[in-house]
Amino acid sequence: MGKDTVTLIDNRTGKQYELAVKDGTINAMDLRQAKVDAEDFGLMAYDPAFMNTANCRSAITFIDGDKGILRYRGYPIEELAEENNFLEVAWLLLKGELPTKDEYNVWKSDITHHTMVHESVKKFVDGFQYDAHPMGIFLSTIGALSTFYPEAKHVDDPANRKHQILRLIGKVPTIAAYAYRHRMGLPYVMPDNDLYYTGNFMNMLFKMAELKYEVNPTIERALDILFILHADHEQNCSTTAMRGIGSSRVDPYSALAGAAAALYGPLHGGANEAVLHMLKEIGTMSAIPSFIEKVKKGEGRLMGFGHRIYKSYDPRAKILKEMAHRVFAITGRNPLLDMALELEKIALSDEYFIKRKLYPNVDFYSGLIYQSLKFPVDMFPVLFAIPRTVGWLAQWEEMLVDPEQKIARPRQIYTGSGARHLPKFEKKESAKA
Ligand code: CMC
Repeated sequence: MGKDTVTLIDNRTGKQYELAVKDGTINAMDLRQAKVDAEDFGLMAYDPAFMNTANCRSAITFIDGDKGILRYRGYPIEELAEENNFLEVAWLLLKGELPTKDEYNVWKSDITHHTMVHESVKKFVDGFQYDAHPMGIFLSTIGALSTFYPEAKHVDDPANRKHQILRLIGKVPTIAAYAYRHRMGLPYVMPDNDLYYTGNFMNMLFKMAELKYEVNPTIERALDILFILHADHEQNCSTTAMRGIGSSRVDPYSALAGAAAALYGPLHGGANEAVLHMLKEIGTMSAIPSFIEKVKKGEGRLMGFGHRIYKSYDPRAKILKEMAHRVFAITGRNPLLDMALELEKIALSDEYFIKRKLYPNVDFYSGLIYQSLKFPVDMFPVLFAIPRTVGWLAQWEEMLVDPEQKIARPRQIYTGSGARHLPKFEKKESAKA
């Protein structure tokens, strides 16, 4: 049995260092021992985009990218999507265990009673241009909430954190719905406390002149499963933003606005929107082969394909592909589905994609489902942000109570010019005055 160390031989000095290996990692700070002289700062690790650096210990979400496994707190995503609802999964992510019946009832009631927003929030949303992107409205309004709840800055108080977490989970669907209604030029709809989380969200989105919004249970369940699948995904770009911003001890609204901004990008949560634009741009089945050729030449990407961690089929995409058929049975088949299926078929048998292990990710099929549920394309990233709020908050809480964490502050390799002095210019008359 070998030792749990690796030996680092510094050929610059001939010295040898034993670095402890724990959980398959070395502590990057241990590299600092390797110095060429007493003045030397010590060896650093260079890892742009954190390709091979663990930034934290986390007990929330497990992914095995090679095997296509995703588990929340140990439970396979497939089982949770089959057996549980989103609010149960939210509790699981935040607390580590599924709720008991009593815990669930209190939790659901607490969330339901935090769905309303201050009237001034409506005025804030009103201030946006009529055609403002809903994700821009969403993330700005989330940031603005910190001014409504200044006590949220006491992030070291567990009871205070718990209160803000309830508020955020309760209010994100309301703000998302208001962003949508503003975008559509429709009046805002009050939350309906009789309805479950996703049903109430649909009510705030789609209610027109009727007295009570009738929720279609199949659509509600489909949306709930979509929320479960998007709730957390360990240290992705937006979660890293949430942890990084939160590490400065700023309030959770400000940190979450930053996380939502990271999600907005087309390489992250904005990809579901980009997939739809891509399918429309391709236009016809006959144009698919030439589009694939362009991608292979590096002229654009096949959106909704590829992942930093998954080097096999994203398990969330598998569930969504199956779900698409069930949803389309009610809403009517989305004609873009055939194009998506054909793209997938070609890509999965093409050497370029096989060699690079590029498979459909969660965004490939989610957009088609959202579109069939009558969401405008620019709402798609917002629909991702609502459930991911739970993951961001669970990761934020875990970061705050972790004694190994400090303010996030990476190092750099400076590549600029050496010390130099400002050039001396002859002073003009006017400059003297
Ligand atoms: N289409 C064509 N080629 C691709 C794609 C793609 N979608 N993704 C990666 N590649 C190629 C890339 O050009 C590179 O090729 P080469 O080795 O010849 O230079 C190779 O595959 C490795 O790509 P990479 O950019 O180094 O991989 P990454 O881990 O940095 O990027 C990614 C991961 C998700 C940003 C990338 O796959 C991508 O841009 N995909 C499209 C956008 C997308 O669907 N994003 C949603 C991600 S899942 C939801 C979420 O959690 O955000």
